[in-house]
Amino acid sequence: MVVPRSADLVVVGAGVAGIAAVLTARAAGLRVVVVHKGPRWQADRTEQATATFYAQGGVAVVMPDNPADSVDSHLADTLAAGAGLSGPVASRSILGAGWAAVSELISWGTQFDRDPTGALARTREGGHRVRRIVHAGGDATGAAVQRALWVALGEAQAAGGIECLDESVVTQVLTDIAGRVVGVSYVRAGVAEPGVVLAPTVLLATGGAGHLYAATTNPSGATGDGIALALRAGARIADLEFIQFHPTMLYTPGERGRRTLVTEAIRGEGGRLVDADGASVTAGVHPLGDLAPRDVVANAAMAAIDRTGHPCVYLDISGIERFAARFPTVTAGVRAAGLSLHSGLIPVVPGAHYQCGGVVTDTFARTGVPGLLAAGEVARTGLHGANRLASNSLLEGVVMGIRAAGVAVTDRGAIRGDAVDGVYCDQDLPALDRTTLQDAMSRHVALRRDASGLAAVATLLESAPRRRIAGVADAEDASLTLTAGVVVAAAAARGESRGCHVRSDFPRSELDARSRYFGLARGVISEVADAAPVSVLG
Ligand code: SIN
Repeated sequence: MVVPRSADLVVVGAGVAGIAAVLTARAAGLRVVVVHKGPRWQADRTEQATATFYAQGGVAVVMPDNPADSVDSHLADTLAAGAGLSGPVASRSILGAGWAAVSELISWGTQFDRDPTGALARTREGGHRVRRIVHAGGDATGAAVQRALWVALGEAQAAGGIECLDESVVTQVLTDIAGRVVGVSYVRAGVAEPGVVLAPTVLLATGGAGHLYAATTNPSGATGDGIALALRAGARIADLEFIQFHPTMLYTPGERGRRTLVTEAIRGEGGRLVDADGASVTAGVHPLGDLAPRDVVANAAMAAIDRTGHPCVYLDISGIERFAARFPTVTAGVRAAGLSLHSGLIPVVPGAHYQCGGVVTDTFARTGVPGLLAAGEVARTGLHGANRLASNSLLEGVVMGIRAAGVAVTDRGAIRGDAVDGVYCDQDLPALDRTTLQDAMSRHVALRRDASGLAAVATLLESAPRRRIAGVADAEDASLTLTAGVVVAAAAARGESRGCHVRSDFPRSELDARSRYFGLARGVISEVADAAPVSVLG
């Protein structure tokens, strides 16, 4: 017999969006349970569980005292990168809240880098026309943010009202017979009996799905859990064909799993992307050259790899003074891979990095399912469109995490435990072998796709055997299988190339840019009939 815990808010995930929500909700008096897959926070672990920790470049934000910048300008850069699929209203709302959110991060203890005058230092990344990216520890922004948030969470937890269920994976969002969320079920590593937390509000802050692919910049827990949970709860998903490949992931032949990100900020400080013959990768491709939006640079890098027949391109860092001091994370990652910086060239390839689409939400993190919220990478607010602008993700995470907490405060209310419409702890779900899935996705659904490759992966996914979900790895494999199904369906439905979705059989962008929405009906992923209105024509 499962004895349920209860809370006012369950937060699934412990990255920037999740912890921002916990701290805000707790400050308003809510009882919060955090369910996350990582271990208890230990600052000295080399591998960490959240994508937030691995963010390098920084947080894109318009500072109020910067006459050279404005929210309008940040919005224009965001919409340009989004290739006609960003929602201008949602984007303005989120970007406009940026400075207040960064101020919260500072109040929670994040120490951003400062220039000699004491002002926040700013750098530039792809797609930004001005320097507006604040950073910490040089290129260790995510680590600094995550560390500060964990410390703040620990202090809040000591004061009571917060419970953290570490090394636990949510297996189901529970609903009542009216379809309203009433909590979650979860399994915990090493504990045979599944658990239940009853709560009127559940926030999915589970991050992305980089491990759909054999190599990624994402931590190992990025397995599409939130997409799968939301779909099974009846929420809608959109824009999942837009999986962003970062142009510069460290190239180490044959390795699988998480690989070191080589931040775009290096190009912001003068780094140049060159091919194996030393020629510029981006010359003549885009007016912003090496600082073009990420999709443009990633495709230029791939074209250079094809042209030269060499397995990677190189980031030329020879013009950057005191490289190791400014970019300690990249320096450590390069050295850990057994490479040296002495040549001034870092070998890089495009790598799976960010899920631009996700669970459809409004600008308060509400999905269409009453009581179910989503924030951070798992959510599709409309900010990223077909291609996320660099360093908009941490910003969105903190803004939306704080807003989600506000909704939880409003929706606070008692849950009737007897109203739960079944707790399916013994689930059998389709789950493909992970290596087989990753190899197929890497081959056919990566930077370039075509109809026959997509059809082959769809057939493979349909053949996935059902598996009893007995632990974290089973739950992850089932999430990867379901999420891959949506990515493939969305990519097959989009017969054009746009942003980070490139169809070699449809190289052009069509004028009719609109988001497609997907749902799960009787176990089958289908395009939802009430398709979204066009947000912006491309
Ligand atoms: C980077 O530092 O290049 C990555 C930042 C981001 O993904 O926005």
